[in-house]
Amino acid sequence: MKKETILPAKAITGGVELPGDKSISHRYAMLAGLAEGTSELRHFSAAVDCHSTLACMKALGAEVKIEKDSVKVIGRGARGLKSSWRALDAGNSGTTMRLLAGILAGQKFNTRLTGDDSLQKRPMKRIVGPLREMGADIRAREDNFAPLEIHGTALKAIDYKMPMASAQVKSAVLLAGLFADGMTTVTEPARTRDHTELALEEFGANVEKHGKTTRVHGLSSGSNGAGKLVAKSLDVPGDLSSAVFFISAACLFPESSLLIHNVGLNPTRTAILDLFLSMGAAIQTPTLRSAHGELVGDLAVKGAALKGGVIEGERIALLIDELPMLAALGPYTENGIEIRDAKELRVKESDRIAALVENLKRMGATVEERPDGLRVEGRKAGKLHGAEIDPHGDHRIAMAFAVAGLAAEGATVIRGAECAGVSYPTFFEDLARVAER
Ligand code: S3P
Repeated sequence: MKKETILPAKAITGGVELPGDKSISHRYAMLAGLAEGTSELRHFSAAVDCHSTLACMKALGAEVKIEKDSVKVIGRGARGLKSSWRALDAGNSGTTMRLLAGILAGQKFNTRLTGDDSLQKRPMKRIVGPLREMGADIRAREDNFAPLEIHGTALKAIDYKMPMASAQVKSAVLLAGLFADGMTTVTEPARTRDHTELALEEFGANVEKHGKTTRVHGLSSGSNGAGKLVAKSLDVPGDLSSAVFFISAACLFPESSLLIHNVGLNPTRTAILDLFLSMGAAIQTPTLRSAHGELVGDLAVKGAALKGGVIEGERIALLIDELPMLAALGPYTENGIEIRDAKELRVKESDRIAALVENLKRMGATVEERPDGLRVEGRKAGKLHGAEIDPHGDHRIAMAFAVAGLAAEGATVIRGAECAGVSYPTFFEDLARVAER
């Protein structure tokens, strides 16, 4: 188990280039495997999670060649995947398991899909339910947990009103919709990231979007079905959810001046930037361009005192991966941070509410745990001190407390720091490079 020691910093300066966006990389890898021809995915995420997806696509017959951060995928065509005699291993990745389940439900073969201890504890009923409505034959442990036994079968299109705001559930149904007879419709209660919709369009599927409703035509649905997916050459933008750790670090010190290059700025992901700005952060986006339907730009961040505040309601789904960092910033804000309506945090890679409360307390913060969130007091409650942090194997908890440690008194030690590799293998090196001491 690796330990990383974080010492107090004076400022965050220089430039940083982030790994490719994790959510987009998963989708490109899956669709490239289903496309006809060779796709080139440049600046593909270095995240262990995305490499789990590539390994699964390889086991299903796609040819995958990795050269640095560029990945060539020779697709098998939408009806060309082959069965894997071995169970597919999604590792720590909920996105891999939930999205692939949608694809595998409509194949002509059976698959066993499993993952690590954390993933085997995460709820799968949320995708098994709607996929069964489409005719899928899926068995799950206790009807809710991996391993999933997926017996591929013919699917029918459904009109699905999602009971929860989840991009993974939406995506599982839309991807299954490619293999369904007719037009599959999904309506979300609140907007979530739309990378699946954009990627489906890029690879040639017939997708329609109206507000919170998305429709996809099955590939073999008469004249409306696209018939097939076509290989593409695509650039993956840097991961905004990873950028948030650097933005947060820069905010902590008045002398900071940081440039973060090529960050994905899809509007369904930028609620975090709006929130930072509303709390007083100094973030500018000097350049903006469009890449394959996704917006991309550089972020220039200067130090600024953050006000803090309450985060709740529809915004939670749009900020879900950023909540650990926001909570760990709480003690450095004027008014503290309160998170409500976020019980979903309890079923992420760890119980993030419990992990945040435990580690904030270790650093001396004043924090109250709630069933659906937490409240952490701001600066007036006192300065944080370094401590030994247990991230519970959760990458975002490890990275959030590494950032909190930069402005604490004394050293902070992150136990089991290798878990950061789930989304960002070079995080600690990159942070050390921009932290001035
Ligand atoms: C993701 C969706 C989110 C997010 C996860 C990645 C995606 O999960 O937390 O890290 O790529 O679709 P939910 O859709 O379950 O909220």
